[in-house]
Amino acid sequence: MKKTLLFLALAGSFGIGHADDLSIWKLPPVPVPKDNPMNAAKVELGHELLFDFRLSKNDSMNCASCHLPATGGAGPTPRAFGHGGELGRWAPSWVNSGYYTSLFWDGRADSLEQQTGAMPGHMGPISAPGEMAGDVKEIVDRLNSIPGYRRQFQKAFGEDASGPNIAKAIAAYERTLNAVNSPFQRYVNGDRSAISASAKRGFAIFQGKGQCMSCHMPPLLTDNGFHNIGVPQVGPLKEDLGRYDVTKNPADKGKFKTPSLYNSGTFAFYMHDGAFSSLLEVVDHYSKGGNPADKNQDPLITKLDLTGKEKLDLIAFLNSLTDESVDKIHEPKLP
Ligand code: HEC
Ligand code: HEC
Repeated sequence: MKKTLLFLALAGSFGIGHADDLSIWKLPPVPVPKDNPMNAAKVELGHELLFDFRLSKNDSMNCASCHLPATGGAGPTPRAFGHGGELGRWAPSWVNSGYYTSLFWDGRADSLEQQTGAMPGHMGPISAPGEMAGDVKEIVDRLNSIPGYRRQFQKAFGEDASGPNIAKAIAAYERTLNAVNSPFQRYVNGDRSAISASAKRGFAIFQGKGQCMSCHMPPLLTDNGFHNIGVPQVGPLKEDLGRYDVTKNPADKGKFKTPSLYNSGTFAFYMHDGAFSSLLEVVDHYSKGGNPADKNQDPLITKLDLTGKEKLDLIAFLNSLTDESVDKIHEPKLP
């Protein structure tokens, strides 16, 4: 009895975790809102809409123009480019986005449906003048004039295309893009050889010395919260106040949503403004304690002084979060 307790205490303090504890890291089924149940026709339709240029002004861009499918939907440039030129922020990955309780770096949308910008009263990429600059009413009329789409909307919703139905189809598709087959998920589901020895050491650092799990919490690797981690301001904006723009609470200045980290091994950029371009730069940032000169930085960010080997192990762990199948979504044939 005493021995077991001692083992548990030690395992806890070193963050190694009892073998059985791995289940806390298992991704749960993705939550589905009551007013948008999943069905195969809806998911297929959402897949097509995500790739359709006709959702934008002058058929100039689709969602995938800013969210590169081969990198989990993460942006191919440090800041995204839309109708208004360069935006202030980097396009985050859509992998696991169905698990977030709010969307955008500042959490200004409450659901994936709202996020699209096709729901009445909610600005998002389809309708935002600086992004796809579409007119939702015109898009709806156009989709309803295409027999193939009309049939598909009828099959998915039992009605014609509408702003809300466009939003719901896209959201339903996004809810299928989850990293459930990543090596790390196979590992926590019992395949002990799914990740390397280096990734296992990195996982221990993630839970222990690195204190990463204070914010990148199990089971989603996000607390669905907002933090200022001292990321340098780069790009066209002089200052991005992040969550403050939504809450107007001075304590929220420079806070951004904690990302899920899944598939980040394939991203070309990191952080809300694309300030970093490799996982090593990210890990170096944390190792030196972020930006201690930033008075608003979260006290959970402290100097870690990771060794070169610890950094490589942490990166091996982060790479084990990539589900390659979500990076291979194909461009569908459009009606
Ligand atoms: C012009 C480039 C651009 C286009 C086109 C675009 N996005 Fe985005 N997307 C972004 C940027 C930039 C952000 C982050 C903006 C912010 O946080 O303020 C974002 C955020 C998101 C998010 C939030 C993810 C999260 O973690 O909170 C989702 C989901 C998303 N986009 C899906 C879409 C869909 C679906 C479409 C097509 C209907 C689309 N995007 C079109 C650039 C774009
Ligand atoms: C205080 C909370 C907190 C802690 C502790 C923390 N993170 Fe983060 N992490 C965040 C937030 C918030 C962001 C986004 C910040 C931004 O864009 O300005 C982020 C971004 C990242 C990203 C970039 C992902 C992307 O999609 O751009 C990686 C990778 C990452 N963290 C890994 C780690 C690792 C590894 C550790 C431990 C060494 C760690 N984090 C510790 C909150 C935290």
